Amino acid sequence: MKKTLMIYYSFDGNTACAADFLSQYPDIDAERLTVEKEPPRKGIGKILLGGKSALMKDDPGLRPLEKDPADYENVILGFPVWANTYPPAIGAFLKKYPLKSKNIFIVACSGSGNAMKATDNARKATPGCMHKGAVSLTEPLKNKEAAFSKLRELAEEIEKA
Ligand SMILES: Cc1cc2nc3c(=O)[nH]c(=O)nc-3n(C[C@H](O)[C@H](O)[C@H](O)COP(=O)(O)O)c2cc1C
Repeated sequence: MKKTLMIYYSFDGNTACAADFLSQYPDIDAERLTVEKEPPRKGIGKILLGGKSALMKDDPGLRPLEKDPADYENVILGFPVWANTYPPAIGAFLKKYPLKSKNIFIVACSGSGNAMKATDNARKATPGCMHKGAVSLTEPLKNKEAAFSKLRELAEEIEKA
């Protein structure tokens, strides 16, 4: 059994890129969250409806997971920032799998590079956990080296946790 599970959601592949990088480490597993309901892929509705769904904490219809977070000591939550917060898939995951007494790490991807509020909100949504390192990545698919260097540091911190 590995020690760390990265639970992540990715709409456009950026968070998935971070998860792929981290899952190269021998002690890190990763599972991508998938949901029934997502915003349109393109156009103004993508940002507007996606942002609204995050703010309203809509239920996206989380599909069952393969891995059980209870089996791991450390959980990395990976997500894109939507309307300055975490997307509905993460909210639905935390509702279904309340994480107690875990070390929580956060990987937040955004367009602006500002993931402070989203990170804060994710920490508030995981009470009773130990909140450890968080990284904010700006569009990692376009800025791979910058993202990978932050993720390497995070992986070192996770190894010591
Ligand atoms: C619905 C929606 C809302 C977004 N809201 C924000 C935001 O509030 N701030 C920001 O910096 N980027 C925002 N973005 C940009 C994404 O956070 C960014 O492109 C991220 O890298 C996407 O990660 P992904 O490819 O894993 O989905 C938003 C994107 C979408 C689709």
